[in-house]
Amino acid sequence: MNVIRTFEDYQKQYKKSVEHPENFWSEVASHFYWRKKWDKVLEWDFLKPEVKWFIGGKLNITENCLDRHLIKRANQTAIIWEPNNPEDSAKHITYQHLYDEVCRTANMLKANGVKKGDRVCIYLPMIPELAYTVLACARIGAVHSVVFAGFSAKSLTDRITDAGCKIVVTSDGAYRGDKTINLKGIIDQALESCPDVRKVIVKEHIRSNAPMKAGRDVWWHDEIKNAAPHCEAEEMDAEDMLFILYTSGSTGKPKGMVHTCGGYMVYTNYTFQTAFQYHEGQVYWCTADIGWITGHSYILYGPLSAGATTVIFEGVPSWPDWGRFWQTIDRHKVNIFYTAPTAIRSLQQAPLSFVEKYDLSSLKVLGSVGEPINEEAWQWYSKHIGKDKCPIIDTWWQTETGGFMISPIANVTNLKPAHATLPLPGVQPAVMNESGLEIEGNNIEGRLTIKYPWPSMARTIYGDHQRFKETYFSSFPGKYFTGDGCKRDEDGYYRITGRVDDIIIVSGHNLGTAEIESAIDEHSAVCETAVVGYPHDIKGQGIYAFVICYEKPAEEDKLRAEIKETVSKIIGPIAKPDKIQFVSGLPKTRSGKIMRRILRKVAEGDTSNLGDTTTLLDPGVVDEIKAGAI
Ligand code: PRX
Repeated sequence: MNVIRTFEDYQKQYKKSVEHPENFWSEVASHFYWRKKWDKVLEWDFLKPEVKWFIGGKLNITENCLDRHLIKRANQTAIIWEPNNPEDSAKHITYQHLYDEVCRTANMLKANGVKKGDRVCIYLPMIPELAYTVLACARIGAVHSVVFAGFSAKSLTDRITDAGCKIVVTSDGAYRGDKTINLKGIIDQALESCPDVRKVIVKEHIRSNAPMKAGRDVWWHDEIKNAAPHCEAEEMDAEDMLFILYTSGSTGKPKGMVHTCGGYMVYTNYTFQTAFQYHEGQVYWCTADIGWITGHSYILYGPLSAGATTVIFEGVPSWPDWGRFWQTIDRHKVNIFYTAPTAIRSLQQAPLSFVEKYDLSSLKVLGSVGEPINEEAWQWYSKHIGKDKCPIIDTWWQTETGGFMISPIANVTNLKPAHATLPLPGVQPAVMNESGLEIEGNNIEGRLTIKYPWPSMARTIYGDHQRFKETYFSSFPGKYFTGDGCKRDEDGYYRITGRVDDIIIVSGHNLGTAEIESAIDEHSAVCETAVVGYPHDIKGQGIYAFVICYEKPAEEDKLRAEIKETVSKIIGPIAKPDKIQFVSGLPKTRSGKIMRRILRKVAEGDTSNLGDTTTLLDPGVVDEIKAGAI
């Protein structure tokens, strides 16, 4: 399949993908099983915006992830499930077994009233049933909306309501290292405000004796008992919705990004095989949660459509000790390992003996995703994990892009630490200046846009196409705006410099400052808040909140703890501010806009040059903020 093995291959394929994109993608797509071939490869208009790929094509993505593998690899392991506790044994799920379980789950959903086009909310830990449910939805043409099992009841309510889900699949709880999380309790709380949810299927996992609501809640084991292990796949149009996945916006509520069946399948498969140089029979492990796009595209759809063996890991890197990742690589002889810079930075702090205890010689390729990887972490990863023989594939992409965009190709692209390097075939970046002009040539810096469609791009924001247009296609008309800044060096290599909007990336998770501010404002003592990111050694970025209270707080630390708890309840523990500074005012311009530039400098501890503050309504407030900086 348009195989790339050398840099010359890459150059040739890239050129072809730009000069004849439709031929290029048509060839890639011909390696899949389609019920009916497409009539036309692409129609697009970034001004509307509207993008359609493989128009008229009919398929079911699960026939490509499951059925077609049964001829050759029914007995090959599709999923290795590594449970939270390393003392419990791992589960090896073959392609045949996965097929049976997905079909049974699909029949169970059908029996519970789920039909093509219905949205199904999935709130499950990293257990095999999560994979079964996602694929079962795809099998019957239902739209999955997976919500990461670390989100709060309020976040769940918002997502369930926005997507109009009438059914939720969850579990009685989740393990997280030595702790348990009461998922069912969170669901019950969320559903108090979701009157349209009529059914909750509960997988028993931690045996917590979760209370069940009569008439609404049913046990997975009761429902699955009589479900048959065969379920005819629903025929889907290439442009039918496959899933919705929420991501934070720089303003307002989270955006339900919509991905469709055909293009998403083709692109995630192609990029998985190409960037990692996946070879038949290899064991692949991506440590992300399936609740994020990385898990959707590169734990499930990409690897499974390629017939790979993919690891699903329920645990955490730090429990029972800091050797857990390395132990798991050794145990399952992992060949391709894909994780996030924040994980690397925290593992780097632990004694090297945790790494040295294990045999990592099975590793061939390493990957990184979620945020820019700093050079120190890159070097450590390369030296201690890759033993200086594994390339590091620094994959830049987004929930919105569905798959890798700028990334090295393993053993093909010459690497430069901390650089995502070059666009993959089919990806046409354009770097723009602030006045909206494309900056040509190399050794430049600007805002990263993409000027031509690629098959797995999100098609809209669920229920709000106007917002889709405003967020991604209005800053630079005719181009998709990523929200990221970048540099292009003398070799044409890209280095992502981070977000240029009000999104902060904390341990690889996108959080909108507006979302955190409005959560903090929910505390009754708080009048107004401004949140910025600041460099954090482990998390990449930390959250710094400047908070104005109605009255000067009597016990600051107590109030800080309460504010953190409020945020944790409204969004989830990942959004808790690291630092909270109480202030009497915020630096605002005369038009009332908060000058975040100043707050960012204070949060970074760099107050020597705050730039021009003369346009501020009350410049005096800056001195107070500087003096009280934490
Ligand atoms: O700022 C970029 C950063 O993460 C953002 C996308 O976040 P999300 O939609 O949650 O998807 C994360 C997983 C794909 C981007 O706009 N980002 C992601 N990968 C990288 C990165 N920044 C630099 N280098 C990367 N490899």
